[in-house]
Amino acid sequence: MCGIVGAVARENVVPILIEGIRRLEYRGYDSAGLAVINGGLHRLVSTARVADLAAQAGVTRISGETGISHTRWATHGAPTADNAHPHISSGEIAVVHNGIIENFEPLRERLQQQGYRFVTQTDTEVIAHLIHAYYDGDLLIAVRKAVAEFHGAYAIAAISTREPGRMVGARAGSPLLVGVGEHDHFLASDATALAQVTQRVVYLEEGDVADVTREKFGIYDAEGVAVSRQEITVKTSGATEELGPYRHFMQKEIFEQPRAIADTLESVGGIGPELFGPGAEEMLSKVDAVHILACGTSYYSGMVARLWLEGVAGIPAQAEIASEYRYRDSVARPDALVVVISQSGETADTLAALTHAKSLGYGHTIGICNVATSSMVRQTALTYLTRAGAEIGVASTKAFTTQLTALFLLTLTLAKLRGRLTPEREAHWLHALRHLPAAIQAVLALEPSIIAWAERFAKKQNALFLGRGLHYPIALEGALKLKEISYIHGEAYPAGELKHGPLALVDSSMPVVAIAPNDTLLEKLKSNLQEVRARGGELYVVADADSHIQSTQGIHVLRLPEHAGLLSPIVHTIPLQLLAYHTAVMRGTDVDKPRNLAKSVTVE
Ligand code: M6R
Repeated sequence: MCGIVGAVARENVVPILIEGIRRLEYRGYDSAGLAVINGGLHRLVSTARVADLAAQAGVTRISGETGISHTRWATHGAPTADNAHPHISSGEIAVVHNGIIENFEPLRERLQQQGYRFVTQTDTEVIAHLIHAYYDGDLLIAVRKAVAEFHGAYAIAAISTREPGRMVGARAGSPLLVGVGEHDHFLASDATALAQVTQRVVYLEEGDVADVTREKFGIYDAEGVAVSRQEITVKTSGATEELGPYRHFMQKEIFEQPRAIADTLESVGGIGPELFGPGAEEMLSKVDAVHILACGTSYYSGMVARLWLEGVAGIPAQAEIASEYRYRDSVARPDALVVVISQSGETADTLAALTHAKSLGYGHTIGICNVATSSMVRQTALTYLTRAGAEIGVASTKAFTTQLTALFLLTLTLAKLRGRLTPEREAHWLHALRHLPAAIQAVLALEPSIIAWAERFAKKQNALFLGRGLHYPIALEGALKLKEISYIHGEAYPAGELKHGPLALVDSSMPVVAIAPNDTLLEKLKSNLQEVRARGGELYVVADADSHIQSTQGIHVLRLPEHAGLLSPIVHTIPLQLLAYHTAVMRGTDVDKPRNLAKSVTVE
């Protein structure tokens, strides 16, 4: 989603601004732009790729020692050149912005009455004009006065031609950090954007405003009081991710899952609260329920975890879509453990749900997250870091299976603390977890059979996914993957629900994917599959080696090498990822950057 980079240096900052937003490209965007001060303000924008912006910069030889750049994912106004950031007021103030200014309409009316002319449909343009309206030679004061009027979420970086060599940033609800250099300083929405220039960063806190020059920077809280925020060194890789022998990042990431899971398990010598950091034993021993909050694929991992938690740890658990939770009246359970799950750790809805839960009195929080420097990790008491490595493809794959791995560890830990995990079972599950990478490797070897399925799916417009119990969330995940990257409409149902409505959709043109591990629900599922076959529906069954379902006319069976027991959802996800991937490739879609989607959804 939107990304911010800003730089004040003793050299031309255009290459830094462009490389910074190039590193944020994978998050999804539909236009990019930059502005530098060099005498006046010079602005370049592109509705194509950052590479196009770089080409324009080369042709125009634009340069300057102070500047800001941005990748925009359109919310207010189409992805046009006019709507691209930076936005400029009166030729003097330039601003880039992540987030949404909810009260932009009354602000715009007021500014129009003051004589400002609006040339975009964005909410951001009011920021530029409002800062200009307050500007009296001191950018810090003007930004402070302006942000005091905003409702909503923002991270902004602003520059003024009247103070070249100065840049002011502010944040509330969207992340922003200061990058610390020797004789230069930076602003960015993510440390990754600055990996080429510095690893020393200072994260702004809610309501903070940063005043940045070449030589120094200062941070002020919402009351305008100078505050000190801790500088940390982040371990972002200076290198950019390479595709290697793979055609797309999604394919690479699917094949990285054995290693990602092994890395996620690396420090696991045994099951216990120490896996979740200092203070975990005290907190996890106290909790009497679990409330999971997440979005999209991360929510589906939470749905699986809910069943593990109740079934294995015997603790009441619920999983809820984060964006719904924050807007409903709910009954707080202060002794429940709030589990937030996010690959990026920056998903606005999930962070807001966490804030909401805390405001209701929930005192026990844990984040399952893939980014050590993310807002989520800073906002939860406990953390389990998945070690999937950077996930570039918009469709989440290795983040999902590593989340499930971490959530299974949490389940076992709570089971142990509640006296429900014998040493024998602990040893059994540790062995099963360590075997997971090999089990996944064996499934990846089935890729040729899945490509054969994908050839048939690529011609379809709809598909149904069925699963039961632990595998219903996996059916949901399979349907999400398919629609996200191939644009085929996929819907998932618990198989028993079929006869209560969706069976009406089934005919010979409707492929039905059934997840059929050899568990206690298999016989029930087989009856559901008969219902599909009787209506002429074509079945694609993901079964285990010993599931006793045969391929026959209209039934295609993919046999996974072994049944993984409670860990089966992790293993059964792999064929569905490959199916979505190869179907999308055959349909010629932009697999890693599907239309309309962003990797990190930092707006509500
Ligand atoms: O970074 P998060 O895990 O919080 O992201 C949540 C969802 O936006 C994300 O899982 C989304 O559903 C994926 N694109 C699915 O592949």
